[in-house]
Amino acid sequence: MRLCFASNNAHKLDEIRPLLPPGLELLSLADIGCHEELPETQPTLEGNARQKAQYVWDHYGVACFADDTGLEVAALGGEPGVYSARYAGPQREAADNVAKLLRELGDEPNRQARFRTVIALVLSASDVREFSGEVPGTIATAPSGERGFGYDPVFIPSEGDGRTFAAMTLAEKNQLSHRARAVAGLVEQLKTLN
Ligand code: IMP
Repeated sequence: MRLCFASNNAHKLDEIRPLLPPGLELLSLADIGCHEELPETQPTLEGNARQKAQYVWDHYGVACFADDTGLEVAALGGEPGVYSARYAGPQREAADNVAKLLRELGDEPNRQARFRTVIALVLSASDVREFSGEVPGTIATAPSGERGFGYDPVFIPSEGDGRTFAAMTLAEKNQLSHRARAVAGLVEQLKTLN
């Protein structure tokens, strides 16, 4: 089976690839000739995941899935949530987003947060399925770790050993992460299609 992952984020592709069954041919957007920015204008993670996957189906006719992720911080009323990518502005700079998050939290003692990922799978015009995954954690007071992307340098998963996602190997992050949990649902579903 051939399936496109509707994302231009190479980090996400690296995370997802080892989680998929060997028989599945994973195509990138470049592989299907899609070089434009995908629309992401919905007010929910679910809406954005569907919008991105649906766009690829509508314009390229390829079965595909897309993910949308948000970091929800309790003391900030669930922000940045669906606006995580553009938290510090339209340039979508990870370092700026992290800096703004630490600034907004200041010395707030409640640093509870969670990552939530929604995956939308579009198999045909009338067959759209959805999977989600989340991981609880806390926001560190300063960034640490060199790996990962986005908010990884300040996110410490509760089920880990106190390190941020950015201090973990890709395999370690995949043991716990929101995205790996959503992908597990996707993989279960794909198995039933074969
Ligand atoms: P999107 O799903 O690409 O729209 O991501 C929303 C925002 O969350 C972006 O700023 C990403 O960098 C960030 N993000 C998404 N997934 C992760 C992750 O696994 N770790 C850290 N940050 C992430």
